[in-house]
This record gives sequence, structure tokens and C-alpha cells, in this order.
Amino acid sequence: MRVLVTGGAGYIGSVVVEELQAAGAERIVVLDDLSKGHRGAVPPGALLVEGSIADRRLVAETCRAERVDAAIHLAASSLVPESVRDPARYYDHNVAASLALLDGLRAAGVARFVLSSTAAVYGEPDASPITEDFPTRPTNPYGETKRVLEAALGWYAAPYGLSFASLRYFNAAGATERNGEDHDPETHLIPLVLAAARGERGEVAIFGDDYPTPDGTCVRDYIHVSDLAAAHVLALRALPAATAGAPGSGRVYNLGTGAGYSVREVISTAEAVTGRRVPARIAPRRPGDPAVLVASSERIRRELGWQPRKQDLRVIVADAWRWLETHGRY
Ligand code: UFG
Repeated sequence: MRVLVTGGAGYIGSVVVEELQAAGAERIVVLDDLSKGHRGAVPPGALLVEGSIADRRLVAETCRAERVDAAIHLAASSLVPESVRDPARYYDHNVAASLALLDGLRAAGVARFVLSSTAAVYGEPDASPITEDFPTRPTNPYGETKRVLEAALGWYAAPYGLSFASLRYFNAAGATERNGEDHDPETHLIPLVLAAARGERGEVAIFGDDYPTPDGTCVRDYIHVSDLAAAHVLALRALPAATAGAPGSGRVYNLGTGAGYSVREVISTAEAVTGRRVPARIAPRRPGDPAVLVASSERIRRELGWQPRKQDLRVIVADAWRWLETHGRY
């Protein structure tokens, strides 16, 4: 495998690179503009190309020079509230720039593609857990831009011979020995809760306690970033090699553990793991938050043999805590 990883200097991308190295990939090329990623997250042995995915020429030339045969595309904007405030940014980064990337890949003959997609494509689901057959009705521009990109891949597959897998992530969390979450600003629950446990922030705001859930707070499916990253390698390996003139095909997979935890449960787990108190207060609901988002990942388990190794929330939180205590920042 000779793989281009866009966004490979970011939180999930850096762990995807670790998994590719562990799987013995011959060449790993990270394409990242470092707007959110970190130079220090790219390990020795992987090539960092600093630039934009929207730069078709750069993409094509890099892929030709490095003889890339597959791409994993993680570079994107991914914050729901920001997407509501500034949808143009999301259409630009997640749709326009991604289509340019696909042009560059096509020019270089790269016909295997793994997309970082999201549970946000489902919007407010009618039932739980969510399977891939549920209707996609995003309730915010972030989810919509990923839905649009998935649809484009579907149309590209046959005429361009593109084979793709779209991975719909639920809530990525946790850390490895080397890589963890270092966002600025940080908006995700687990790092915010752990920062509060370290006394680095005031109280955690619990966004709503009147949802139709057992304790009134939102329920999410937290998946360990290493389990998530491992799925990319499995999905990539399962993609057929390009044959000139042959139509491509696509698969969509949910990635979660199937277990849901409420915001309050995350806070109490963090208190148990860290041995510290996490101060919290109830705040108004955050617009666009579905009450419950829990994945059925039966399809990827069945078809690709994916098996999460770290599905216990205590392990996920403990790994995030260890990274924060030992690294904290890049
Ligand atoms: N939450 C709080 N207080 C906070 C932060 C979050 O109560 O300070 C709550 C949220 O309301 C939500 C839960 O904690 O109920 C998780 O929130 P995150 O912001 O950590 O994650 P989201 O579920 O909003 O979104 C994440 C990714 C999205 C992706 C989505 C898919 O950021 O990109 O998972 O499920 F689309």
C-alpha cells in the first residue's frame, strides 16, 4: 500500500497513520495544511506535504511522484455549531475542496478512496441503534456536506472506476501512546471534562438535562480512536485494486461500539478514572444535538471482520487522560 492521508496531522488522521505503519504500508504521504493538524503528529517515516487538498496539481504531482495507489481523506471541517454559523466554510472545505482532491487523484490514476464521514448524516434518527440503511436527513450543514460528498462518490464510482468506502464515525475519543486530541478551540466532551478534572477550566456545561433519555442528558456512542483508525486499514484493504476501464463500487459503514453513554455517565466515568472531581452545571441545550446517537456496526463487523478492542468507556477515558497527563499538547 502506498497511501495518501489527507488530514494525517490531525487527531484521527495521526492515528490512522500509526495503524498504516503497523500494517506495513510501504509509503505514507500526509497531505495537511496544518490549519488544525500538528507537524509533531506526523511520525518519522511518513512524508508530510504541507498544502491544500484543493490544489489539484499538488495532489496529482504528489501522487505520481510517490506512486500513491490509495487515499484516505480525513481533512475536513467537523464542528456542528460552527457549520450552522458559517455554512459557506463547510461547503468550501468539505465539498468544493474534496471534489478538487478527487480530480487530482483521478488525474494521477488513484482509484481507491476511503472517506471520513459522520453520524451527522443521519440527523435525528427514528430509532436506535442506527444502521446504514437509515435515511440520511442531516440537521446541520456539517452533516449535509458529508452527505453530498458521499453522494458524489456514488456517482463517480462507475464512470471513473473509483472504489470507495465511506466510514460514518460516531464519537471518536481516547488516545494512543503518541497521539491524542489537541484542538483549539476544544469543543468535544471528553477532553473538556478531563481539562476540568485537571482544574484547567471552570465547570463543564452539560448541554441540556431534559432530553428523553434515562438521565435527561444526551447519549452518544464513543469509539476509541485506535479502533476507528484500524477500520480505515481494513476498509482500504478490502477495496479492489483498480483495473483500467472497470467500474468501481462503494460501501458505507457505521463506526461505533453500539454502546451509548450519557453526558452524566461520561462525567462520572472521568471522575472514577482520574480520582478527581469534575465540576459541572446544567446549561441550555446546544442547537442541533440529537438526543441519542448509537451505531449498529454490524455491517463492518460482518463484512470486514472489524472488532473494537477498546470499547469500554473507562478505557477510552483512561487513554485520553494518560495522553493529557503525559503530552497535553504537540
Ligand atoms: N456536550 C456537553 N458539554 C460540552 C460539550 C459537549 O454537554 O461542553 C455534550 C453534547 O451536547 C453532546 C455530547 O456532549 O451531547 C457529545 O458532544 P461532542 O461535542 O463531544 O460531540 P458531538 O456528538 O456533538 O459531535 C461529534 C463530532 C461530530 C460528529 C458527531 C457524530 O464532533 O463531528 O460526533 O456523532 F458529527
